[in-house]
Amino acid sequence: MSKCQTYQAMVEQASNQPEQYWGHAAENISWIKPADKVLDDSDKPFYKWFKGAQLNTCFNAVDRHVLDGYGEQTAIIYDSPVTNVKQKISFSELQSQIEQLAGAMAAVGVTKGDRVVIYMPMVPQTLVGMLACARLGAIHSVVFGGFAAPELATRIDDAKPKLVLSASCGIEPNRLIAYKPLLDEAIELSQHKPDHTIILQREQLVASLVPGRDLDWVSAASQAQPHDCVAVEATDPLYILYTSGTTGQPKGVVRDNGGHAVALAWSMENVYNVKPGDVFWAASDVGWVVGHSYICYGPLINRCTTVVFEGKPIGTPDAGTFWRVINEYQVKSFFTAPTAFRAIRGCDPDGDFIKKYDISCLNALYLAGERCDPATLHWAQEQLNIPVVDHWWQTETGWPMASNLLGAAPCDIKAGSPARAVPGYDIQILNAEGEQVAKGESGMIMAKLPLPPGTLSTLWQNDQRYVDAYLSQVDGYYLTGDAGYLDEDDYLWVMNRIDDVINVAGHRLSTGRIEEVLCEHDSVAEAAVIGVNDELKGELPLGLVVLSSANRLGDAEVEKELISQVREHIGAVAAFRRILVVDKLPKTRSGKILRATMKKIANGEKYVVPATIEDDTVLEMITQSLAAS
Ligand code: COA
Ligand code: AMP
Repeated sequence: MSKCQTYQAMVEQASNQPEQYWGHAAENISWIKPADKVLDDSDKPFYKWFKGAQLNTCFNAVDRHVLDGYGEQTAIIYDSPVTNVKQKISFSELQSQIEQLAGAMAAVGVTKGDRVVIYMPMVPQTLVGMLACARLGAIHSVVFGGFAAPELATRIDDAKPKLVLSASCGIEPNRLIAYKPLLDEAIELSQHKPDHTIILQREQLVASLVPGRDLDWVSAASQAQPHDCVAVEATDPLYILYTSGTTGQPKGVVRDNGGHAVALAWSMENVYNVKPGDVFWAASDVGWVVGHSYICYGPLINRCTTVVFEGKPIGTPDAGTFWRVINEYQVKSFFTAPTAFRAIRGCDPDGDFIKKYDISCLNALYLAGERCDPATLHWAQEQLNIPVVDHWWQTETGWPMASNLLGAAPCDIKAGSPARAVPGYDIQILNAEGEQVAKGESGMIMAKLPLPPGTLSTLWQNDQRYVDAYLSQVDGYYLTGDAGYLDEDDYLWVMNRIDDVINVAGHRLSTGRIEEVLCEHDSVAEAAVIGVNDELKGELPLGLVVLSSANRLGDAEVEKELISQVREHIGAVAAFRRILVVDKLPKTRSGKILRATMKKIANGEKYVVPATIEDDTVLEMITQSLAAS
């Protein structure tokens, strides 16, 4: 079979015989009970994969490898240039740490179906925490450490955790982040109060514990009875991961156990081209979906060694860090965000640091999280001389929707495109009327239902929002929120978001949430936030504010206060530093703020003045202000 036929055959089988296709893929997973039905579509649009099956995700990621005789293989490599620590943890050691922590969690009452929020830095214990939840059948919700206390509080109120796992601090290159005070503040702010917290004390900063509520991680785990894996339904939730949507209220993406395990195992082999025993490294953060799927679950389920890296692409200590790690641990497949490469390229344009290390072990580089500009892709190709795979997916899907399948059916690379749809995803471009458009024509990127295993099953305790946000645009289709086109070779070109989500250094943020925070300030009457192109971070938020009549502060003072307000309410990760005070915001006659038009103006792109504009002189004023700023 030629490579091209292999791809076509995979696509056809996955779409014409999905139960057979994914039933076969499920053979890589150890089940306690097999499925009664591989794809249950009796309650559309809520499709259920592996209905009736039982398994335990932690067993699949850890215990079975120990039982199979691989207990001595390294499961996790922890490399932390910010603390100068390097550590290797075998599958046996990992199993023992997980069963102890699971025992400690059970001792404070955590059982199957309970939620556990995890607010932690990039240390191996974060994975131990996630896997301990999976072991108990508890549902974890990891919150990225760069989020501030109010964002954490919002997630605590939605998930209603019995327990929070956290650490005394995180370590950024320029400062310590005291997590525990942020957690205390979040618990103070939230309506729901978790019964307990378990805190990992790090030597860089020891946190004070609230007696009766906060437990010390090491002593709680060491005193606990080891806990075994609990059988869960394939359709039971494994985790909730909050992501930004159009409104300020984050969306709690729910991932099941069974479909997730099957899809990740499939992707490790077919997309990432790694075999059990290989070293796989995703240089991301466990707070994002990449970290869930490809730092924690995917590599471990596939019995790969995973790297937990606590550092940055540059500055820890230099732009050679990635190459050192790849060389030192013989990484075979490497995943990061294009922004990391732009940062490295900025510091090391000629690749001098790359030449210092033998990285011949590396077979491929995978980039995702944001659009990969061709210049960055070409630079990476030239410097590394290996396939550079731009692939496209999102928190909701949990694994790639479009990618070059290096492990199954490699295809030519076209810079700027994440290649073709991954088998199982029927990606189509539709217009506003829900009709398919011609090849080369732009429209909404949508996926025909059902989505393959491993994709979101709903939003946490909000089926209606799931339907409204994703399934209502066109009947029978999932709305990805991205716009783009398919070319004559069926390569996908992802061009922009169709909603108010922006992508800052590979981090997904809601402009609506930033606007909410700006409007909470007494001096602000109205605000609009848009994403403006940035050479390093892809996009940066820019706030346009109209001051209220009650304002008594000067513009500079208001700007300073608003910038720190966004940092305190959302977090440093929003990278919110630019504000423009304007007299009025441009609107349509029905009162809708023309954000997309302002974005085009700010980015120096061509734009058409909408026919429905209320007052076009406002747009002229904005153009002048943006040009002057
Ligand atoms: N905890 C607390 N604060 C955090 C944090 C965390 N886990 N991660 C980031 N921050 C803070 C940073 O310290 C920084 O604060 P500052 O404003 O005081 O400097 C701010 O959030 C922005 O951080 P970041 O986006 O990391 O920007 P940077 O300028 O420090 O670094 C890059 C730029 C390109 C090196 C960095 O953005 C990067 O490595 N990006 C890759 C992102 C990624 O992997 N995304 C996942 C999708 S695959
Ligand atoms: P997140 O849910 O944070 O992973 O963000 C997902 C969004 O990031 C997608 O919907 C896209 O808008 C964008 N994105 C991710 N990967 C790519 C890619 N390879 N090309 C273009 N956009 C991407």
